[in-house]
Amino acid sequence: MAPLVRPAAEADLDAVAAIYAHEVAHGYATFDVEPPPRERWSAKLASAHEGDHFLVAVVDAEVVGFAYSGPFRDRGAYHHTREVTVYLAAAATGRGVGRLLYDDLLARLAAAGMRTALACIALPNDASEGLHRACGFERQGVLREVGRKHGRWIDVVWWQKMLASD
Ligand SMILES: CC(C)(COP(=O)(O)OP(=O)(O)OC[C@H]1O[C@@H](n2cnc3c(N)ncnc32)[C@H](O)[C@@H]1OP(=O)(O)O)[C@@H](O)C(=O)NCCC(=O)NCCS
Repeated sequence: MAPLVRPAAEADLDAVAAIYAHEVAHGYATFDVEPPPRERWSAKLASAHEGDHFLVAVVDAEVVGFAYSGPFRDRGAYHHTREVTVYLAAAATGRGVGRLLYDDLLARLAAAGMRTALACIALPNDASEGLHRACGFERQGVLREVGRKHGRWIDVVWWQKMLASD
């Protein structure tokens, strides 16, 4: 069945947490080294900021990925800037699901009047850089060796997409 993208609900959070926990344990995409407490996901669901959205991709009634937007920094002048991220179960990658999630998420940010979206990608990550490029993000700059995980230093790169046309 074709993937469906919809807003996340409380009942999705176990599946979301499991997808993320796999990346925490085995990957570099997140700099978390322990799975976060359930409250972190609940807080994202509960955010009242008009630019905060939390979406899941569902295939055959199973959550196979998620994407969300949240604050870049909590100072007031950053109100119209959102940081975005996306994670899929390994079996769901490479089939357009990341693109579906991001197209929906970015449309919601633009509709909410957000000015720009930022994404921080740990390197190397060809799939994530490919996704961000395909979605109209521009590569802005590399920060060298800001992370250490699984025994190696990790660079990150910031990508940015302008959302407003004026
Ligand atoms: C990164 C990730 C979300 C990409 O999602 P995906 O569903 O695999 O990507 P899609 O199939 O939607 O592809 C989206 C675009 O990226 C490109 N792309 C995908 N994989 C690529 C790769 N390995 N190399 C280069 N480009 C790639 C595709 O060509 C596509 O471009 P198009 O729309 O112009 O055809 C997914 O691989 C994932 O969850 N990885 C693990 C977690 C992760 O790294 N998250 C990102 C945190 S910053």
